[in-house]
Amino acid sequence: MHEVTKSAIDSFNKIENPRHKFVIQKLVETIHRYIDDVQLTQNEWEFAIDFLTRTGQMCHGQRQEYILLSDVLGVSMLVDEINHSTNIEQTPSTVFGPFFIPNMPLRQYGESIVVDARDQQAEPLLITGQIFNQQHQAIEGARIEVWQTAENGMYSGQDPDQSVANLRGAFISQADGSYAIRSILPVSYQIPSDGTVGELLNYSHRHFWRPAHIHFMITAEGYKPLVTHLFLKGDEYLSGDAVFGVKERLIVEPETKIADTEFAHIFQAGQSYQSIQYQFVLTKDE
Ligand code: BEZ
Ligand code: FE
Repeated sequence: MHEVTKSAIDSFNKIENPRHKFVIQKLVETIHRYIDDVQLTQNEWEFAIDFLTRTGQMCHGQRQEYILLSDVLGVSMLVDEINHSTNIEQTPSTVFGPFFIPNMPLRQYGESIVVDARDQQAEPLLITGQIFNQQHQAIEGARIEVWQTAENGMYSGQDPDQSVANLRGAFISQADGSYAIRSILPVSYQIPSDGTVGELLNYSHRHFWRPAHIHFMITAEGYKPLVTHLFLKGDEYLSGDAVFGVKERLIVEPETKIADTEFAHIFQAGQSYQSIQYQFVLTKDE
């Protein structure tokens, strides 16, 4: 070990919190080992400082280039894997992403999240299912936040032509744990490429695509929050997601249905729509 490495590690000996001390000292040790392993040049060090500075300068309220960097390096999914070891019952989690907007309108069972007229022409989608715990008991009153792209591959908040609440909303599960969300099919889209992450992916000949998906964040009292997506079967980017977020058990195949009396208040009889059914399973917060 280099003398400076040992001195730098020891300089953090006085941190009282043992976990914090361990995490910081390990960080110093690992960075020093990496620099030694690659024999970093002065120019490379200067480039790295400039890249990180510019990454920080891209960040503001609606843009978090550091999270995007973490996502394309696979770091976000590694943290997810370490912290959400999934057993077979519980629904797998995946990346949160940078496009969530809090405090979106609370919507009724079966209500549409399509606000803008432009997106109302697209083929309708109905997502239904129940929220359960691992003992297969229905969870009433779970809050289901949902957000997805419009047909142009952009989220509201990213696209100045969309209303903020377009393709977003919060739903509350009923007494039997059921929920119903009316929407349109999401499309595959490209993650932002106008920052330092764009430079890195272009330099590496990597693409920017994410397979079509719908985001969910489900919270219920006494349960761990679940942050996840549902992906559409057949999407060409399922095996090459730019942020490594795909998990097999989150891939669903929409079915074409013709509206009958069950959803008469949502669709006109005879209207055709795509249907996704999915049971989300939460874990108790013990
Ligand atoms: C998203 O799915 O919204 C997303 C996730 C990670 C990076 C960029 C976008
Ligand atoms: Fe997304």
